[in-house]
Amino acid sequence: MKVAPSLLSCDFLNLQSEIKRLESAEIDYLHFDVMDGMFVPNISFAFPILNQIRSITDLTIDTHLMVQDPERYIDAFASAGSDIITVHVEATNHLHRAIQQIHATGKKAGVTLNPGTPVETVVPVLSDVDLVLVMTVNPGFGGQQFIENCVEKIRFLESFRKMHKLTYEIEVDGGVNDVTANICREAGADVLVAGSYFFKHDDLTVPTAILRGE
Ligand code: DX5
Ligand code: ZN
Repeated sequence: MKVAPSLLSCDFLNLQSEIKRLESAEIDYLHFDVMDGMFVPNISFAFPILNQIRSITDLTIDTHLMVQDPERYIDAFASAGSDIITVHVEATNHLHRAIQQIHATGKKAGVTLNPGTPVETVVPVLSDVDLVLVMTVNPGFGGQQFIENCVEKIRFLESFRKMHKLTYEIEVDGGVNDVTANICREAGADVLVAGSYFFKHDDLTVPTAILRGE
């Protein structure tokens, strides 16, 4: 199991030392949540911060775009240093084109879906993506409760992958903690995003090991 801490819950006054703590904890992906105040009712951070993070770390940056019409910004996020760029199926009229655009930058492409969106909506692109992110909260805020109904989507994506011999990773985001991590693992998840649960620990090697299932 891979672990992807969400930067949204870190101590922004000490961003550089937070990045170093994450490196020391040997996390897998740094999850970078971008909110535009349109697709989700909140605004977070974007390019100046991403550029500066990229300049001090080789960590894999996993960018989650909670942005309406993400095509407008894909090239800019690729240039700023994202390694994986994930777009919402609900946020674009041209999902397939957005995925092509991400791949044209040389980066990995992900697709994600809100809790209220049926998993079938991403099926047409499953052979084109490197990652599928299953939202287990309504996006926009950290610290919300895991929505258990979404677990069925993880199971579906796992068996679809097997049946069609595909290779996308299944990532889960929202309300992940020591208890819900086990539910996701059993359902077939490969990557767990965690914000509030992860950063409440003083020693970040602890939640890393727990989420990995060690
Ligand atoms: C929610 C974000 C998440 C968030 C997770 O909109 O996409 O990545 O930071 O936070 P927790 O783990 O606290 O639910
Ligand atoms: Zn996220």
